[in-house]
This record gives sequence, C-alpha cells and structure tokens, in this order.
Amino acid sequence: MRRTLISLTLLLGAMACGAKGDDDNGASKRDDDKAPTAETVSWDPKEITPQMLALGDSLFHGLIGATSCQSCHGPKGDQGTVAPNLTDAEWLHSDGSWEGIHKTVSSGVMAPKQFTSIMPPFGGAPLKLEQSRAVTAYVYSLSHKL
Ligand code: HEC
Repeated sequence: MRRTLISLTLLLGAMACGAKGDDDNGASKRDDDKAPTAETVSWDPKEITPQMLALGDSLFHGLIGATSCQSCHGPKGDQGTVAPNLTDAEWLHSDGSWEGIHKTVSSGVMAPKQFTSIMPPFGGAPLKLEQSRAVTAYVYSLSHKL
C-alpha cells in the first residue's frame, strides 16, 4: 500500500513537471511571435540606410541570393518589356509606398494587369524579412528621392 502511494506521488510529480514544461513551450512560442514581422516593423522611409540599399542592390541584380529581379525588370529596373518599369510614378499593384511595394514583392503578382507573365513571390526564391525590406527599399529608391 505504501509503495503504491509513493509511486502515485511520483507519477503526480512527473505530471506536474510535464504541465510546467508545456507552459514553458507556450512562453517561448509567445517570444517567437515578438520577432519582427512585416506588420510590426516601421515602413518610414527615413529608416532606409545606405547599407540596406547596398544589400537591396545586390539582391535585385542577383549577386547574392537565388533570385534576380533584373532578369525581368532589367538591370536598371526600367526595362518595361516583360515586367513593369519600376522607376516611374505609375504603380499597378500598390500606392508605391515602401510598405505597398513590399506587399507586392512578398506576394508576387498572380494576376498581371499589363504583362503576360506572372511574378512569383519574392521573384522566385523566398527572402528573409531583412532581405525583402532591403530589396524593396532599393526599388523604392529608384523612383523616390531619399
Ligand atoms: C519572372 C519575372 C519577374 C521577376 C523575376 C520579378 N518580377 Fe516583379 N513583376 C513581374 C511582373 C510580370 C509584374 C506585374 C505585371 C503586370 O501586372 O502586368 C511584376 C510586378 C512587380 C512590382 C509591382 C509594380 C507595380 O507597378 O505595382 C514590383 C514592385 C516588382 N515587380 C518588384 C520586383 C522585385 C523587387 C523583384 C525581385 C525580388 C521582382 N519584381 C522579380 C515580373 C517579375
């Protein structure tokens, strides 16, 4: 009898620990949610730094990463033959703000308005937020004075 009680106590103890472990997991999950997302970062163009533009330039031209925006938009972003000119003030898919352009770049364009090709999300290969922000800042700088 005494033995059963002890093992019962041990069992309850183990269960309590298990429950505590779950709580901890929950807490770390909530911490992950605090990682910056497109919704929580600032899209104030004043945040655009020369470093960000340099990274964006390299991504746009396919010098780093697995995608190249210039293959469709041209090395200067103004090709306008298979994909829209990104250097003018005309925007087909957003208001042309840094945040608006970022939404287009992230989702891609599944329903093109003027051209026959689609644009895959991020131009073809997933980008981290830091990278998609940078390449979008670069695109934004082609048509806006910073
Ligand atoms: C496979 C070709 C292709 C690649 C690669 C590509 N795009 Fe596009 N992009 C398009 C097409 C096609 C459209 C939309 C055309 C239309 O609506 O008729 C578009 C639209 C856009 C727009 C919206 C323009 C507007 O007027 O609203 C932006 C911004 C853009 N691309 C940026 C990028 C960036 C940045 C990259 C690289 C990360 C990239 N694109 C890679 C083909 C491409």
